[in-house]
Amino acid sequence: TVFTPALAPVETGTVPTAGTEASAPLENLRAWVDSIAALTQPDEIVWCDGSARQSYELTKQMVDEGKLIKLNPEWRPNSYLARSAPSDVARVESRTFICSEKEEDAGPTNNWQDPESMRSELGVVFSGSMRGRTMYVVPFSMGAVGGPLSQLGVQITDSAYAVLSMGIMTRTTDKVLDLIADGVPWVKTVHSVGAPLLPGDEDVAWPCNGTKYIVQFPEAREVWSYGSGYGGNALLAKKCFALRIASVIGRDEGWLAEHMLLVRIISPEGKKYHVAAAFPSACGKTNLAMLRPTIPGWQVETLGDDIVWLRPGEDGRMWAINPEAGFFGVAPGTGESTNVTAVETLWGNTIFTNVALRDDGDVWWEGLTDKAPAHLIDWEGNDWTPDSGRPAAHPNSRFTVAAAQCPSIAGDWEDAVPLDAVLFGGRRATNVPLVVEATDWTHGVFMGATISSEKTAAAEGTVGELRRDPFAMLPFCGYNMADYWAHWLKVGQQLRFDRAPRIFQVNWFRKDSDGSFLWPGFGENSRVLEWIVRRIEGQVPAQETAAGRIPVLEDLNRDGIDVSDEALEALFAIDPESWLAEADLTEEFFDTFGSKVPPALRAELSSLRYRLSH
Ligand code: GTP
Ligand code: MN
Ligand code: MN
Repeated sequence: TVFTPALAPVETGTVPTAGTEASAPLENLRAWVDSIAALTQPDEIVWCDGSARQSYELTKQMVDEGKLIKLNPEWRPNSYLARSAPSDVARVESRTFICSEKEEDAGPTNNWQDPESMRSELGVVFSGSMRGRTMYVVPFSMGAVGGPLSQLGVQITDSAYAVLSMGIMTRTTDKVLDLIADGVPWVKTVHSVGAPLLPGDEDVAWPCNGTKYIVQFPEAREVWSYGSGYGGNALLAKKCFALRIASVIGRDEGWLAEHMLLVRIISPEGKKYHVAAAFPSACGKTNLAMLRPTIPGWQVETLGDDIVWLRPGEDGRMWAINPEAGFFGVAPGTGESTNVTAVETLWGNTIFTNVALRDDGDVWWEGLTDKAPAHLIDWEGNDWTPDSGRPAAHPNSRFTVAAAQCPSIAGDWEDAVPLDAVLFGGRRATNVPLVVEATDWTHGVFMGATISSEKTAAAEGTVGELRRDPFAMLPFCGYNMADYWAHWLKVGQQLRFDRAPRIFQVNWFRKDSDGSFLWPGFGENSRVLEWIVRRIEGQVPAQETAAGRIPVLEDLNRDGIDVSDEALEALFAIDPESWLAEADLTEEFFDTFGSKVPPALRAELSSLRYRLSH
């Protein structure tokens, strides 16, 4: 449906608050759409239905406008390259706000501003922000449409790139409107690239604005994003809704929204296990989600690579879904030797952003092949040769592709699955063993709360240079992180103790004194998964250490890999001194949350110190 809205005078001062009174939910939705149109003044409004025809037409239009480059269909059918503005290549944490009514509900790790003053600031920037452009209304479902753990949303956007990407990453369908009409709640999300066009203005390939706002209103369940076209800022269903807003809905309703991958492991005996894992950005979720086991008889099926929603079931187990419908993965480092499944997933029907263009009309990025092509057009559109001295693809260049296209996707990946294990990890050159099992749920929550990660390989080991990233949720938790820990403890109590997922900490990134990785990683991580399954089955004992339960070293399957006994010892070494030093940092970190830190986690810290010094 295309129609031209009556242009109301620009409303300045404030953006509308949620919950405009209307008799029926669909009228409520239409009234909201009209109010956004009145504010932003687009030339026209298009309601999106997620149909192949609509995305075909939108794609064609973007190619004609020079906003997408059509790749050579011989190599990469129905695939496109987008080049962003050089200033708009990543999430902008400094411009991300949690505007809860009370500041303490945002907590010390989020930027807070009071909702009223934020709404009036947004009112100014959004006024007329879509002039000369089309406003798209995108109804979407996170999780299967009508599924028990699913949530609905609507994104308004003036970016065709966002519409196409949302079509891959979510279930965009007008069936969502039927559910809204039935009274199912939905989340309001508004996005503008902030680049209005006046008559006669020439558009650019990637419109955006130097001023950016990524704003969550947790109580109102609303997202407002301005000035950026980049995925994490513009595909509002993903980080903004499925993590920040959903974590708040989960707090209020008794479930969890997590920055996790989700896989099914099938043992040689044919038994199935479901594992979710939280690692910070660029620490290997997409890799582990698509893992190809190197040990005979084991299989891994992919269910999700970035976000998982968890809810305790009446059976006392934790049930999990991947609310997304696609992968928005980091391209560099994705190659035959690291993640062949991802490479195969990307055969076609993919939007690439900020990768390099080959002379034959295909794409390339660092790590796709060992040797770079002799000539490329880099992500900024300039000529590139291997001696250019700069990367051809942006380090945060991405692919957007449907999950269903992944060769390892589970046949029933849209259904909820019962969880057997939760893994927490980060990039740690020192201290953290390859795998440690928590002694119980509370200890596991302590592990999650104290995750930290090193940014680079340089200067590893100095504990002062750790970035704390509790539950890999630092940039994504929509409320006070300490309340979030308390919520994890509370949700754990809903589980039957013998049916709760076991919690483990893993670290693929430990290094020797020369700075080389002690563990081969990637497909070989299946050996760690095997041990985890053996533990769940009670088939192997564990060694108690101050840090938790580690394998009896002979139990870790090393058949066919070259990991020496010394390397294995080093992978599991726990040095009390550096652990105690880190415990001091944990205490400092906890102190930033004041009295909100759950006493149970303070107690975990004390008993860790006790174990380390006795
Ligand atoms: P987001 O999508 O940004 O949330 O990140 P992600 O967690 O999905 O990260 P991704 O899987 O894209 O991480 C990629 C980086 O981790 C690359 O540099 C990989 O080479 C590296 N990596 C992944 N698994 C392993 C491993 O087992 N060992 C080593 N050494 N590196 C790994
Ligand atoms: Mn992520
Ligand atoms: Mn990923």
